[in-house]
Amino acid sequence: MCGIVGYIGTQQAAPLLLEGLARLEHRGYDSAGLAVLGSGLRVAKKAGRVRDLGADLPKRFTGKAGIGHTRWATHGPANDVNAHPHVDAKGDVAVVHNGIIDNAATLRQQLTDDGVDLASDTDTEVLAHLVARSTADTLEERVAEALAAIEGTYGIAVLHADFPDRIVVARNGSPLIIGVGDKEMHVASDLGALVRYTTTVAHLDDGEMATLTATGFTTYRQDLTRIAREATEVDVDPSSYDAGEHDSFMRKEMLEQPSAAERVLRGRLDERFGTGHLGGLDMDARETRAIKRVKILGCGSAYYVGQMGASLVEELARIPADAEAASEFRYRNPVIEPDTLYVAVSQSGETIDTLLAVQEIRRKGGRVIGLVNVVGSAIARECDGGIYLHAGPEVAVASTKALTNMFLGFALLALQLGRVRDLSIADGKRLIAGLSRLPEQIQEVLDGEDALADLATDLADAESLFFVGRVRGFPVAREGAQKFKEISYRHAEAYQTSELKHGPLALISPEVPTIAIVPADELTDRNVGALHEIAARGGPLVVVTHADVDLGEVPCRRIDVPRNERELDPILLTIPLQLLAFHAAQVLGHDIDKPRNLAKSVTVE
Ligand code: AGP
Repeated sequence: MCGIVGYIGTQQAAPLLLEGLARLEHRGYDSAGLAVLGSGLRVAKKAGRVRDLGADLPKRFTGKAGIGHTRWATHGPANDVNAHPHVDAKGDVAVVHNGIIDNAATLRQQLTDDGVDLASDTDTEVLAHLVARSTADTLEERVAEALAAIEGTYGIAVLHADFPDRIVVARNGSPLIIGVGDKEMHVASDLGALVRYTTTVAHLDDGEMATLTATGFTTYRQDLTRIAREATEVDVDPSSYDAGEHDSFMRKEMLEQPSAAERVLRGRLDERFGTGHLGGLDMDARETRAIKRVKILGCGSAYYVGQMGASLVEELARIPADAEAASEFRYRNPVIEPDTLYVAVSQSGETIDTLLAVQEIRRKGGRVIGLVNVVGSAIARECDGGIYLHAGPEVAVASTKALTNMFLGFALLALQLGRVRDLSIADGKRLIAGLSRLPEQIQEVLDGEDALADLATDLADAESLFFVGRVRGFPVAREGAQKFKEISYRHAEAYQTSELKHGPLALISPEVPTIAIVPADELTDRNVGALHEIAARGGPLVVVTHADVDLGEVPCRRIDVPRNERELDPILLTIPLQLLAFHAAQVLGHDIDKPRNLAKSVTVE
């Protein structure tokens, strides 16, 4: 949430920073700004997109050191004044900030009482004034002094006109990565902004600071004691951060699902013993057998796929399992059990609610593993072990390929847990064969895109829709509704099909379509019964199902997906819902990759 870039070196900073910000824009896109240090400190900032900022940069906006920011508003509306960087009254200090300063109101009051005129509504501005008021000898000391007054989370970068040879950065809860170039240094909140310039990077940990000069960087704790931090090479293809020939990242990422699925499965299917092979779990068979319960924690789509994962664990391993929204977990003072396996699931590995849940579990002595896409991210590092999802960079706010790989990660985990218990080798092999078929079957669903696009055009007219499913199909419905509302801005509500007649059936009418998940399984007949009840009330129906399901006389439009093993069907039922949401949003003319009010990584509570 919010993106930070910084550069110091031999080139003009502004064009490099603008390019970096464009790559970070999915993290927040309501306003953007730059500060450069040349003959003095200059700032340009603007509500709107990075391209608007670039088009409007003042003349001679020059300097070989600079910082930039793209914002997702927390304190104060999205306008020019609230955009970052924020400066002190004299205009000597510029600060960009990700995160939230919890005691901002108190600090703002103290500054106002001291006669400081605050220009913006933001929490961040106090930092600029606090740094400016410090009389310490070095910029590092001044920043550390300011941070000592702050409660909250931050990733910050600071420029000071009196210290033109450096950028000082600090991290507490919001990621910062330093990139090492040739006689130049970069910093960014996300690898994607750096990889065009360098793949030699160093991650800062919480509570750490760094100074960047054109020739190198030093790292230290906030008490300014030095710490050694080596930069290392990351194995990443910079072009994987580009949309290529696609008109949106979401479309690119949906189409990448077959290859992403192959990657997460590669080397992890043990056909001989019919089990999963997850080295990263770091648990032997005895430890694995000792697990009495599985608790999955994630937010948004990661929570919904966590519900799919919980079903897999219960079905294959017969271990009680459930998923919970990580954003609620720690606020109910959860009981942490020593024989429960906690699983944190996150694409970004940065979602603050999930990270805080992990920290709460570990603080109470629980064991937590991660299903995480971004290698080296905060959640991945905080967990006791885990499964990397290998989906590749996901840029669109709407998660697609990462979600698919989360499901497959859960299937592997459930297999491994099941095979040290009562899951037979025959069932293990059946599921391994099913998993191996999935990438091709996902491709089959994607190949049906044109028909789904037509259907989406009709659905886009509806102001309100229901997505319904039962048991394995319910999290599919939740995820379908999530995708639809996220990018089409239509009201889409997910419900258990069985619960409709307990209330929401009152809303069914010819204006309210229902998308029903009806796989060929033990509940098909009951599901078909519910379809009749919807149709009888004039509700238009779209049914996501399998070709051999007999829907009788129910008037509906059907979407048939290929059949796999029952336990693995949910992911194949999910893919068409991504395409429906995508095409509805396209028909409605929305910015697919940057839906209003949202951001890719939610790093504020
Ligand atoms: C997915 O389409 C959403 N943008 C959102 O719900 C997302 O899944 C959630 O914020 C969790 O993100 P994470 O996977 O990076 O933790």
